[in-house]
Amino acid sequence: MTLEEARKKIIYALDVPGLDDIDRWAETLSGKVGMFKVGKELFTSCGPAAVKAVQRHGGQVFLDLKYHDIPNTVASAMLAAARLGVQITNLHALGGAEMMETAVAAVHKEFNDTERPRLLAVTILTSSTAMTLRQVGIDHSVQDMVVRLASLAKEAGMDGVVASPLEIGLIREVCGPDFLIVTPGVRPSFASADDQKRIMTPAEAVTSGADYLVIGRPIAKAPDPVEAAECIAAEIVEGAR
Ligand code: C5P
Repeated sequence: MTLEEARKKIIYALDVPGLDDIDRWAETLSGKVGMFKVGKELFTSCGPAAVKAVQRHGGQVFLDLKYHDIPNTVASAMLAAARLGVQITNLHALGGAEMMETAVAAVHKEFNDTERPRLLAVTILTSSTAMTLRQVGIDHSVQDMVVRLASLAKEAGMDGVVASPLEIGLIREVCGPDFLIVTPGVRPSFASADDQKRIMTPAEAVTSGADYLVIGRPIAKAPDPVEAAECIAAEIVEGAR
């Protein structure tokens, strides 16, 4: 794998409050990462202007709003995301097969395959445990649920999933080589774990089969963020040897 290919696998989590911060990060990391993730905090404060700010700097966007609602509402929201020109957007697989199928149909109807965003499903959040599931009436293990929801997402026509690095192997086995896997919870060897618990290094995650890595604080909090991003890309290249 080349350094350029490794950089493209990094999605930088723009966990910042305002538009000025976006300009700063998009400029700093331009060409050093493959995509920028706009999440709920940033989108709730700034709206589509957050996406446009990244795009103004030539950056690609993962709009991480994790929709979960009735099928018609999720389909309309995903279509609105697609119209913003983002490269990836997502929903919660727990919303069910009909919700996912309706969203896929709406986006595929208006956009061709090369123009449309990749549509991902969140399986079970990495913050959830067996206890979290039991409390809401689900008596299955997290792993069983992840595999079940990833299969359901694939059958519904979704392009991939967001999953913990520890679940990559299982998902690949069940969903095949072309199903996209995006994983947070990645920590390069030089960084602290922060509040992430079930972690892997970037090299391990990519070797296990991750297509993209969502990385925030190891870059944001580094004394030299560009150097940190470059170290991560170098670790990925090294791991792929
Ligand atoms: O700073 P850090 O690298 O931990 O950031 C990871 C990003 O991925 C954050 O934006 C976080 O909200 C997101 N994320 C996560 N775990 C999930 C889903 C999303 O850490 N299960």
